[in-house]
Amino acid sequence: MADRYAVVGNPVAHSKSPLIHAEFARQTGQDMEYGRLVAPLDGFRAAVDAFRREGGRGLNVTLPFKLEAFALGDRRSQRALDAEAANTLKFDADSVFADNTDGVGLLRDLEANLRFPLAGRRMLVMGAGGAVQGALGPLIAARPALLTIANRTLDKAQRLVARFAAAASASGTRLQASGYEALAGRGFDLVVNGTSASLLGAGLHGAPPELPGGVFAIGGLAYDMIYGNGPTAFLQHAQGLGAARLADGIGMLVEQAAESFLLWRGVRPHTAPVIAQLKTL
Ligand code: ATR
Repeated sequence: MADRYAVVGNPVAHSKSPLIHAEFARQTGQDMEYGRLVAPLDGFRAAVDAFRREGGRGLNVTLPFKLEAFALGDRRSQRALDAEAANTLKFDADSVFADNTDGVGLLRDLEANLRFPLAGRRMLVMGAGGAVQGALGPLIAARPALLTIANRTLDKAQRLVARFAAAASASGTRLQASGYEALAGRGFDLVVNGTSASLLGAGLHGAPPELPGGVFAIGGLAYDMIYGNGPTAFLQHAQGLGAARLADGIGMLVEQAAESFLLWRGVRPHTAPVIAQLKTL
């Protein structure tokens, strides 16, 4: 019987993970199945236990269960410990390994796909929630000269700065917290939107935070961790502010999936054809 994997979340109906992993499996000749698992909001552990009992080998975990997935691991990667959240679980006979591939997925999309090496750059990250906390370890390890975390609620950004201070100092990165209005004229090479605003256009979570003028350096890249059909609200705003390049989170989505696939199967799939395929959907 083929090895079984799935994405677990609530909701998961629109997840692109099954399509991505089916393509990886085909490409690498791996005998595996990858499905969708909806867990009740108060029933994550029971859903995972049932999946394991039925022979499941691993899960991708999406909202709102990344913290519970981290708690469920009896072994955890350093990047999961940094994120305090897990998006990948790997099951062995007697243990659950919890990993987090979101941050490294973002980094690979920036550096390998978009050819935007972070070393020595000035970067701004917007937001201080789970998505940003998951990305900070890998971003700092890539040694940017400056990493500013801007958040509506300043003390959340300040807490992240304190938490990652040692890593930043080891990387030679100046790490700082800021409000949005203080960013005028700061000239960042890269601005990453990690807020949940603009998740559904300007719908549920409101519009993304307004950035002041001069926030982008010449040639600056705007990157949205979110993706949608067409440019996101943040990317439209960034274009108006003079960002030279725009990228949405499709590449990050495929790269985090590839890292999970590597962990489970020991082979790294090619991501470029899958990214290209998703962009045509
Ligand atoms: P996630 O796990 O997706 O990061 P989260 O932990 O709830 O979700 O964090 C959401 C982030 O988006 C936070 O940084 C939040 O800012 P606050 O900490 O000030 O709440 C940010 N965010 C959400 N909606 C926003 C909006 N309309 N304007 C500015 N920031 C917003």
